[in-house]
Amino acid sequence: MVAPESPHQVAILRRDIDDPYSLRLIEQLLSSAEPFTLRLPSITPTAQNLDSLTNLTRNLLLILEKIRVESSSSPELTFELAVDGLHTQLSKISRVCSRLEEELGRDENDDEEVERTMSPLDPSYVYPNVLDAVIDVNEAVFSIAAIATQYKVKFPSPLSPLTIEERQARAPMSYQLASSPPSPPLLISQVSNLRQGSQDDVGFVMWPSAVLLAAFCLNNPDIFRCRSVLELGAGCGLTGQAVGRIVGNGGGSVILTDFNLTTLDNLRRNIEINELSDVVSTKRLDFYEQSGDSSDGWVEDGVKYEQVDVIIAADVICKDEDAVACSKAIFDALKPGGVCHVISGTGQHRYGVDIFQGECIKRGLACESVVVTAEDILVGGEALELGLCSLQTCAGFVPSMTFWKHVITKS
Ligand SMILES: C[S@@+](CC[C@H](N)C(=O)[O-])C[C@H]1O[C@@H](n2cnc3c(N)ncnc32)[C@H](O)[C@@H]1O
Repeated sequence: MVAPESPHQVAILRRDIDDPYSLRLIEQLLSSAEPFTLRLPSITPTAQNLDSLTNLTRNLLLILEKIRVESSSSPELTFELAVDGLHTQLSKISRVCSRLEEELGRDENDDEEVERTMSPLDPSYVYPNVLDAVIDVNEAVFSIAAIATQYKVKFPSPLSPLTIEERQARAPMSYQLASSPPSPPLLISQVSNLRQGSQDDVGFVMWPSAVLLAAFCLNNPDIFRCRSVLELGAGCGLTGQAVGRIVGNGGGSVILTDFNLTTLDNLRRNIEINELSDVVSTKRLDFYEQSGDSSDGWVEDGVKYEQVDVIIAADVICKDEDAVACSKAIFDALKPGGVCHVISGTGQHRYGVDIFQGECIKRGLACESVVVTAEDILVGGEALELGLCSLQTCAGFVPSMTFWKHVITKS
């Protein structure tokens, strides 16, 4: 197994439902823990035995360190390891260590442990005695327990394995944005894989317009390069993060906004996994708090935020009042001369969307609106990889559905 080097790679490995990554890590732990716990109690530290003591300990410490590092950057993996039985194995190892510590008299050697300068993972380090090895392993076990506690996973965790369906729901969705140049897929975790019922929690899942607007953005990268971009009602954040990839480190920036705090937490996690934190950030923005006549920015909690060059929004209107509030938010958040791209299902599929163009015009914005199909946006573009099959997994997708594509400008 290739060692993952980043949260993104860990998330990719977690997507293998047939061979769960958490179980693979636990298997690796078992294969190093068994020789350690079986052979250690009988090792007498003679000169030739010290190498064997060091090897047994290092093998176990290496996998414990791997589990510590990977689970510390992935609360999801920490949880999966726990329910897959990691804690039972760690408790067994710790029991053996604690018994040996007691037998060997830990107190007398505490000072020696503090004075050590070389890491036991250093290939040239040799353990001078069994007690030091036992202390190191026990401490490594407790550092993993501390991560579980930090992520509010009970330690030890009662064993309750995940079903395949639960694993599928937990694994992030993977969106290959384009094949040339090859880029790592964007990983998007939903808060839940169940379609949500109220306006408050609709951002917990992916909606089809997010895929289409992401494809549009990828096919038209020049709109976004070196620009300040803001996404309204970002939900799981596919579109804004696709723009984050376009903007890269070339001087632009992307702010993903939403009004729901759980959605914002999920957005932050997705941005972190996709390693886009340098370019993409999050802020709370509620359409309903915007006045629609501000000349110097949008507000959140009494604080004014600067207008941006480009706004994007996918499927953010679910009723007439949303259309009014959204048009106000666009007016307040967009710089004069700026542009806003909005995609949403048409009135056959969504409420409130058919009055949106008129509401924008009422605010003094220019709004060109056309009805398109998914193929109109996807076919022939570089971002075809995002594809029609990505739409199938989105909430509220109906084959052959039509979409509004609005281009709004402010003079
Ligand atoms: C149907 S979801 C679409 C999410 C995402 N854009 C997509 O297409 O997958 C609507 C989004 O608008 C957000 N939203 C709803 N009412 C809002 C409001 N008053 N202010 C800001 N965001 C709101 C929801 O939290 C949700 O993320």
